[in-house]
Amino acid sequence: MEAFAPRYNIYAVIHKGLRAWMAHTLQALGRADWLDAEDSAAALAELRSLLAVCRSHLAHENDFIHPAMEARRPGSSGQTQGDHGEHVRAIDTLLARAGALEAARGARRAELGYALYLALAMFVAENHEHMDIEEVRNNAALWAAYGDAEILAIEQALVASIPPPEMMLTLRWMLPSASHGERCALLMGMRAGAPAEVFAGVLGMLQPLLTPRDWTRLQDALAQPAEMAKAA
Ligand SMILES: [Fe+2]
Repeated sequence: MEAFAPRYNIYAVIHKGLRAWMAHTLQALGRADWLDAEDSAAALAELRSLLAVCRSHLAHENDFIHPAMEARRPGSSGQTQGDHGEHVRAIDTLLARAGALEAARGARRAELGYALYLALAMFVAENHEHMDIEEVRNNAALWAAYGDAEILAIEQALVASIPPPEMMLTLRWMLPSASHGERCALLMGMRAGAPAEVFAGVLGMLQPLLTPRDWTRLQDALAQPAEMAKAA
């Protein structure tokens, strides 16, 4: 029997992070007391942070993944390119709703807050369907046209274009949402390429977000190469 050898999945971990981030933000809007200034400001800041990263994420896919698909499979990115246009319009509408809520007073704020919550829920629902298409159909197109090393190179070029503050914010959601193996692979790659203080900062950010067991397993995995190197 052949061993299961999965192909390199360029979407898997970032999408796990985005799904978790979207769920968190939706819950924050549902919980917000829109008549309380502090609550409202915190919920809207969470919403704007999510939407900024969603806008940036689709631009990264437009700039790096879709051109690669089109280069070897013309037309293969059409569906998700079209979706991205819709997402930009949906993000603009959500931001306009957030602005209108901020400007409103009294009971109207609660009414607009609930409408904003429902609108974000529909945006999240659409994004879940969209990410499924990317992970099934776009991955199939990429895997048919590219080897894993080439897909990894596309990802590395994409990641290199992300400014450090956006990267840190994204890692805050990706790393706790990834499986142990995915988390180790991502962090080992980062340790090999990033300055030591940046890597230490990422670990410091991550520790309180993991269960004690996941943190211990990660520490053990990160210690292994060094121990093996010492033994050699
Ligand atoms: Fe996308």
